Amino acid sequence: MMKTLIVYATKHGSTEKAVGMLEGDLSGDVRVMNVDDAWGVDLEPFDHVILGGPIYMGELHEKLSAYAARYQDTLLQKRVGLFICAGMEDPFILQAELENAYPEDLYEHAAVKEVFGYVLDFRQLKAQERKDLRINGVTESEFKLSAPVITEFALAMERGFVRKE
Ligand SMILES: Cc1cc2nc3c(=O)[nH]c(=O)nc-3n(C[C@H](O)[C@H](O)[C@H](O)COP(=O)(O)O)c2cc1C
Repeated sequence: MMKTLIVYATKHGSTEKAVGMLEGDLSGDVRVMNVDDAWGVDLEPFDHVILGGPIYMGELHEKLSAYAARYQDTLLQKRVGLFICAGMEDPFILQAELENAYPEDLYEHAAVKEVFGYVLDFRQLKAQERKDLRINGVTESEFKLSAPVITEFALAMERGFVRKE
Protein backbone atom coordinates (compact mmCIF):
# COMPACT_ATOMS: atom_id res chain seq x y z
CA MET A 1 0.00 0.00 0.00
CA MET A 2 1.12 3.51 -0.78
CA LYS A 3 2.66 5.27 2.21
CA THR A 4 2.50 9.02 2.65
CA LEU A 5 4.19 11.13 5.32
CA ILE A 6 2.99 14.66 6.06
CA VAL A 7 5.47 16.84 7.99
CA TYR A 8 4.06 20.17 9.12
CA ALA A 9 4.85 23.16 11.30
CA THR A 10 2.35 25.56 12.87
CA LYS A 11 2.33 28.51 15.21
CA HIS A 12 -1.38 29.12 15.76
CA GLY A 13 -2.83 25.76 14.66
CA SER A 14 -4.31 26.51 11.24
CA THR A 15 -1.72 24.48 9.33
CA GLU A 16 -2.56 21.59 11.65
CA LYS A 17 -6.24 22.01 10.67
CA ALA A 18 -5.28 22.05 6.99
CA VAL A 19 -3.26 18.86 7.50
CA GLY A 20 -6.32 17.21 9.08
CA MET A 21 -8.35 18.09 5.97
CA LEU A 22 -5.58 16.84 3.67
CA GLU A 23 -5.23 13.58 5.59
CA GLY A 24 -8.96 12.94 5.06
CA ASP A 25 -8.56 13.45 1.31
CA LEU A 26 -5.60 11.08 0.88
CA SER A 27 -5.92 7.33 0.44
CA GLY A 28 -3.52 4.62 1.57
CA ASP A 29 -1.39 4.70 4.69
CA VAL A 30 -0.96 8.32 5.84
CA ARG A 31 1.26 9.36 8.73
CA VAL A 32 1.23 12.89 10.12
CA MET A 33 4.10 14.40 12.11
CA ASN A 34 4.77 17.77 13.62
CA VAL A 35 8.24 18.79 12.41
CA ASP A 36 9.42 18.65 16.04
CA ASP A 37 8.85 14.87 15.96
CA ALA A 38 10.08 14.32 12.40
CA TRP A 39 13.82 14.91 12.89
CA GLY A 40 15.66 11.61 12.62
CA VAL A 41 12.62 9.73 11.30
CA ASP A 42 13.67 7.42 8.45
CA LEU A 43 11.96 8.50 5.21
CA GLU A 44 12.81 5.25 3.40
CA PRO A 45 9.40 3.56 3.93
CA PHE A 46 7.46 6.52 2.47
CA ASP A 47 6.62 6.79 -1.25
CA HIS A 48 5.17 10.28 -0.91
CA VAL A 49 6.25 13.09 1.43
CA ILE A 50 4.26 16.30 1.90
CA LEU A 51 5.68 19.36 3.68
CA GLY A 52 3.50 22.24 4.82
CA GLY A 53 3.79 25.28 7.04
CA PRO A 54 2.67 28.88 7.58
CA ILE A 55 4.21 32.08 6.26
CA TYR A 56 5.03 34.80 8.79
CA MET A 57 6.44 38.12 7.61
CA GLY A 58 7.14 36.58 4.22
CA GLU A 59 9.04 33.56 5.50
CA LEU A 60 8.18 29.88 5.98
CA HIS A 61 8.03 28.69 9.63
CA GLU A 62 11.72 28.36 10.46
CA LYS A 63 11.55 24.79 11.78
CA LEU A 64 10.03 23.50 8.55
CA SER A 65 12.49 25.56 6.56
CA ALA A 66 15.38 23.91 8.44
CA TYR A 67 13.82 20.47 7.94
CA ALA A 68 13.40 20.99 4.19
CA ALA A 69 17.05 22.03 3.85
CA ARG A 70 18.32 19.15 5.99
CA TYR A 71 16.32 16.41 4.23
CA GLN A 72 16.35 17.84 0.71
CA ASP A 73 18.64 15.14 -0.75
CA THR A 74 16.36 12.35 0.48
CA LEU A 75 13.23 14.23 -0.54
CA LEU A 76 14.56 14.60 -4.08
CA GLN A 77 14.16 10.79 -4.37
CA LYS A 78 10.45 10.89 -3.43
CA ARG A 79 7.21 12.12 -4.90
CA VAL A 80 6.92 15.41 -3.01
CA GLY A 81 4.11 17.85 -2.30
CA LEU A 82 4.69 21.30 -0.84
CA PHE A 83 2.15 23.72 0.59
CA ILE A 84 1.95 26.89 2.61
CA CYS A 85 -0.75 28.53 4.70
CA ALA A 86 -0.63 32.26 4.02
CA GLY A 87 -2.98 35.19 4.34
CA MET A 88 -1.92 37.68 1.69
CA GLU A 89 -4.66 38.71 -0.74
CA ASP A 90 -2.55 39.27 -3.84
CA PRO A 91 -2.14 35.96 -5.72
CA PHE A 92 1.22 37.09 -7.14
CA ILE A 93 2.56 37.68 -3.63
CA LEU A 94 1.20 34.29 -2.52
CA GLN A 95 2.91 32.60 -5.47
CA ALA A 96 6.18 34.36 -4.62
CA GLU A 97 5.86 33.32 -0.97
CA LEU A 98 5.29 29.70 -2.04
CA GLU A 99 8.30 29.70 -4.39
CA ASN A 100 10.50 31.38 -1.82
CA ALA A 101 9.44 29.08 1.03
CA TYR A 102 11.31 25.92 -0.01
CA PRO A 103 14.82 25.25 -1.38
CA GLU A 104 14.89 25.84 -5.14
CA ASP A 105 15.80 22.27 -6.16
CA LEU A 106 13.09 20.83 -3.95
CA TYR A 107 10.53 23.29 -5.30
CA GLU A 108 11.44 22.38 -8.88
CA HIS A 109 11.30 18.67 -8.06
CA ALA A 110 7.94 18.79 -6.24
CA ALA A 111 5.04 17.21 -8.14
CA VAL A 112 2.45 19.40 -6.42
CA LYS A 113 2.76 22.83 -4.78
CA GLU A 114 -0.07 24.96 -3.51
CA VAL A 115 -1.33 27.70 -1.21
CA PHE A 116 -4.03 26.30 1.09
CA GLY A 117 -5.37 29.61 2.41
CA TYR A 118 -5.22 30.66 6.04
CA VAL A 119 -6.87 31.15 9.38
CA LEU A 120 -6.56 34.30 11.43
CA ASP A 121 -8.02 34.06 14.91
CA PHE A 122 -7.66 37.50 16.42
CA ARG A 123 -8.30 36.22 19.94
CA GLN A 124 -5.14 34.10 19.66
CA LEU A 125 -2.81 36.82 18.42
CA LYS A 126 -0.37 38.68 20.60
CA ALA A 127 -0.40 42.51 20.54
CA GLN A 128 2.70 42.64 18.36
CA GLU A 129 1.21 40.16 15.90
CA ARG A 130 -1.96 42.26 15.59
CA LYS A 131 0.17 45.28 14.82
CA ASP A 132 2.14 43.36 12.18
CA LEU A 133 -1.15 42.28 10.62
CA ARG A 134 -2.60 45.75 10.40
CA ILE A 135 0.32 46.60 8.16
CA ASN A 136 -0.98 43.85 5.89
CA GLY A 137 -4.52 45.23 5.98
CA VAL A 138 -6.33 42.43 7.85
CA THR A 139 -8.59 43.66 10.65
CA GLU A 140 -10.74 40.76 11.87
CA SER A 141 -10.79 36.98 12.44
CA GLU A 142 -11.17 34.91 9.28
CA PHE A 143 -11.35 31.20 8.38
CA LYS A 144 -10.17 30.89 4.80
CA LEU A 145 -8.67 27.43 4.34
CA SER A 146 -9.81 26.17 0.93
CA ALA A 147 -11.28 22.66 1.04
CA PRO A 148 -11.43 22.40 -2.80
CA VAL A 149 -7.75 23.38 -3.13
CA ILE A 150 -6.76 20.83 -0.49
CA THR A 151 -8.81 18.08 -2.15
CA GLU A 152 -7.28 18.88 -5.54
CA PHE A 153 -3.80 18.77 -3.98
CA ALA A 154 -4.51 15.28 -2.58
CA LEU A 155 -5.78 14.04 -5.97
CA ALA A 156 -2.74 15.51 -7.75
CA MET A 157 -0.39 13.80 -5.28
CA GLU A 158 -1.92 10.43 -6.13
CA ARG A 159 -2.22 10.95 -9.87
CA GLY A 160 0.46 9.06 -11.77
CA PHE A 161 1.41 6.93 -8.82
CA VAL A 162 2.86 3.59 -9.81
CA ARG A 163 2.24 0.74 -7.42
CA LYS A 164 5.42 -0.74 -5.94
CA GLU A 165 4.21 -4.27 -5.14
C1 LIG B 1 2.00 38.25 12.71
C2 LIG B 1 1.54 37.60 11.47
C3 LIG B 1 2.26 37.79 10.29
C4 LIG B 1 1.86 37.19 9.08
N1 LIG B 1 2.59 37.42 7.97
C5 LIG B 1 2.16 36.89 6.78
C6 LIG B 1 2.87 37.15 5.59
O1 LIG B 1 3.91 37.82 5.55
N2 LIG B 1 2.39 36.64 4.44
C7 LIG B 1 1.26 35.88 4.40
O2 LIG B 1 0.88 35.46 3.30
N3 LIG B 1 0.57 35.59 5.53
C8 LIG B 1 0.99 36.08 6.72
N4 LIG B 1 0.29 35.80 7.86
C9 LIG B 1 -0.88 34.90 7.82
C10 LIG B 1 -0.53 33.47 8.30
O3 LIG B 1 0.33 32.85 7.38
C11 LIG B 1 -1.84 32.66 8.44
O4 LIG B 1 -2.60 33.20 9.48
C12 LIG B 1 -1.59 31.16 8.71
O5 LIG B 1 -2.83 30.48 8.55
C13 LIG B 1 -1.01 30.88 10.08
O6 LIG B 1 -0.73 29.51 10.20
P1 LIG B 1 -0.63 28.75 11.62
O7 LIG B 1 -1.96 28.97 12.35
O8 LIG B 1 -0.43 27.31 11.27
O9 LIG B 1 0.52 29.32 12.40
C14 LIG B 1 0.69 36.38 9.06
C15 LIG B 1 -0.01 36.16 10.26
C16 LIG B 1 0.39 36.74 11.44
C17 LIG B 1 -0.41 36.51 12.69
